[in-house]
Amino acid sequence: MSTTPPVLELRNIDKSFGPIDVLHSISLKVQAGEVLCLLGDNGAGKSTLIKTLAGVHQPTSGQILMDGEETRFTGPRDASARGIATVHQFGGTFPLMSIGRSFFVGVEPTKGWGPFKRFDRKRANEIAVKAVQDFGITRIDDGDRLVGGLSGGERQSLAIARAVHFGARVLILDEPTAALGVKQAAHVLRIVNEAKRRGLAVVFITHQVMHAMAVGDHFAVLIRGAIAADFRKGERSREEITDLMAGGETMAGLEALSH
Ligand SMILES: Nc1ncnc2c1ncn2[C@@H]1O[C@H](COP(=O)(O)OP(=O)(O)OP(=O)(O)O)[C@@H](O)[C@H]1O
Ligand SMILES: [Mg+2]
Repeated sequence: MSTTPPVLELRNIDKSFGPIDVLHSISLKVQAGEVLCLLGDNGAGKSTLIKTLAGVHQPTSGQILMDGEETRFTGPRDASARGIATVHQFGGTFPLMSIGRSFFVGVEPTKGWGPFKRFDRKRANEIAVKAVQDFGITRIDDGDRLVGGLSGGERQSLAIARAVHFGARVLILDEPTAALGVKQAAHVLRIVNEAKRRGLAVVFITHQVMHAMAVGDHFAVLIRGAIAADFRKGERSREEITDLMAGGETMAGLEALSH
C-alpha cells in the first residue's frame, strides 16, 4: 500500500436534511491515480455524497480530510479552488457557446491572464483545442464550433479535459456515461483512464456495472445512505456487484453460503 495520504478522505460522515437522515457514517478514501466507483440504486445517496465531497453540502457530523489534514469546504467555490471538479451528466457546458468560449467560462481573468481581460477568441480556441486533443479527442479541431453540435461523449470529454487543464486534482463524474451509446461511452471511459494516468483522483458514479468494471480500481456500493460494500478491483464478480446494487439481499445469501 502507498504511504501517500488520500487526496480526499471521509470519516464517519453523516448528513441529514432536517429530520431526514440521508448519509450514515460514510468512510471513504479517494487516492491520486485511482478511480473510485460509487455504485448504488436511485435514491441511495450518491448525489448527496458527492455534493458533500464538492462543498455543496456541509456534513452534519464526521470529518473530511484533504491530503491527510482535516478540513472543511465553505462552499462549492472553495472546494473547486482547491482542485475538486464535478462534471455532471451532459457535460454541463453551454450548447450555444463556441468550444473556445465555453472552455474559459467561470475562469476569472486575473493577473497573468492578460490576454483574457479582453476575450481573445483565437488564443482561447487554440488553448481549448490543444487541451482536448492532448486528451486524445482528435475530432475536435475547431474552437469556433458550438458545444451544442458535439456528441454527448464529446461534450463529456470536453468537460473533463477542461477540468484537468485548470488543475483539478479530484474529478467527480456524476453518471457521465448514462445517456451515451456504446461507442461514446467507450470514448468517455478512455478519457477517464487518461485522467487517472495523469494522476488525478477520479470518483465515478454509475449504475452501469460494466462501465464501472472497465475503469474502477476501487468500488463502494451505497445502499440507503450507507456503504454496503467496499472492495478493490478483482475482488468481486460482475454478478456479485449487480446483486449488491439490487439491494444486497442476494449478496447476503451468497455471504452466508461462503462461510
Ligand atoms: N435537500 C434534501 N432534502 C431532503 N431530502 C433530500 C435532499 N436531498 C436528497 N434527499 C433525499 O436523500 C435521498 C438520497 O438522494 P440522492 O439524490 O443523494 O440519491 P442518488 O443516489 O443520487 O439517486 P439517483 O440515482 O436517483 O440520482 C433521497 O431519498 C432524497 O429524497
Ligand atoms: Mg443522483
